[in-house]
Amino acid sequence: MPPLQNDTFLRALLRQPTEYTPIWMMRQAGRYLPEYRATRARAGHFLALCKSPELATEVTLQPLERFPLDAAILFSDILTIPDAMGLGLYFAEGEGPKFERPVRDEKAILALSKPDVGTELAYVMDAVSSIRRALQGRVPLIGFSGSPWTLACYMVEGGGSDDFRRVKTLAYDRPDLMHHLLSVTADTVTDYLNAQIAAGAQAVQIFDTWGGALGHAAYREFSLSYMQRIISGLTREAEGRHVPVIVFTKNGGQWIEDIAAIGCDAIGLDWTTDLAVAKQKVGDKVALQGNFDPVALHAQPAAIEREVARILASYGQGHGHVFNLGHGIGQTVPPEHAAALVEAVHRLSRPYHAV
Ligand code: CP3
Repeated sequence: MPPLQNDTFLRALLRQPTEYTPIWMMRQAGRYLPEYRATRARAGHFLALCKSPELATEVTLQPLERFPLDAAILFSDILTIPDAMGLGLYFAEGEGPKFERPVRDEKAILALSKPDVGTELAYVMDAVSSIRRALQGRVPLIGFSGSPWTLACYMVEGGGSDDFRRVKTLAYDRPDLMHHLLSVTADTVTDYLNAQIAAGAQAVQIFDTWGGALGHAAYREFSLSYMQRIISGLTREAEGRHVPVIVFTKNGGQWIEDIAAIGCDAIGLDWTTDLAVAKQKVGDKVALQGNFDPVALHAQPAAIEREVARILASYGQGHGHVFNLGHGIGQTVPPEHAAALVEAVHRLSRPYHAV
């Protein structure tokens, strides 16, 4: 493998000195880019794109051709795991993800078993190695998975949900079944992330998109504890480097001291948390990633720049900040606005790293 030309992102995750604040964007390869829509049309549909290592490589690199981003993220989806467990993932046009066979009763939950990720999800590992080859050491590659709780939300609800009525009812009525589901899923996520690391992922992010829908105690019981178990089973050293782990619990801003204690290297934050407060709470325990409101990318470049300046100032002097959006970039964002964001972060962050 060629040496990394830009390891700013990996150094920031380990709170080591960097010359500027690195940036990548959640969902940086996506429908806001016309070239993504063209490749998706060639693939036929989104899942075909995920399952073709060649096309997944192509779309992973598209945002890097446009913007000088400091990391690439594997093009895939968190729902590949329940798909490999046999739930039958499909995307109904304009409706988001759905499962043909959601798991809602005792029989279905007890029948779940850990898939062999090396065979059932080989297409993901093939995409990881193909992307690493195509990157030629330009920037690091991020691998990812959903958290067990977030995957359980889709597995039980059968798709997206406004109130998570089914999955929460199950957790309260039958914690034994919920723990079984989460336990099988956590073991699968551990294997899955380790396989991505073996295939060439240089950092990994756990997307706990729906952890923040849980109450204080339920979050610890049903989400945080399983992420801790995953992290304790991960390969932390590859190619002579530490492999950083980022935990992103959307709406988890009040729980960051607890998240910082589960062995991760960095915490992803949405825009509802003040970085200054977060930094004070976690001290030098973990790096912080975030937290530009993705909807603000619809505003004009001058407004985007003001918001970037405000976020950089809230983190303040020093290392350990990875700039990102607080959630995925929307399909209606003009690509030039994303370009303005990346440019502003690189330019305005330099003074914060001067010693
Ligand atoms: O960040 C990246 O560029 C990597 C690719 C990536 C996708 N999904 C591609 C995608 C990543 C990291 C994900 C994670 C993911 N998937 C999450 C966690 C992060 C988050 O956004 O909260 C979740 C909850 C999912 C499940 C999922 N997949 C949903 C709810 C949807 C529909 C949303 C939508 O925008 O339509 C998807 C589809 C999906 N995953 C798309 C992309 C680019 C859009 C598919 C398309 O091309 O139509």
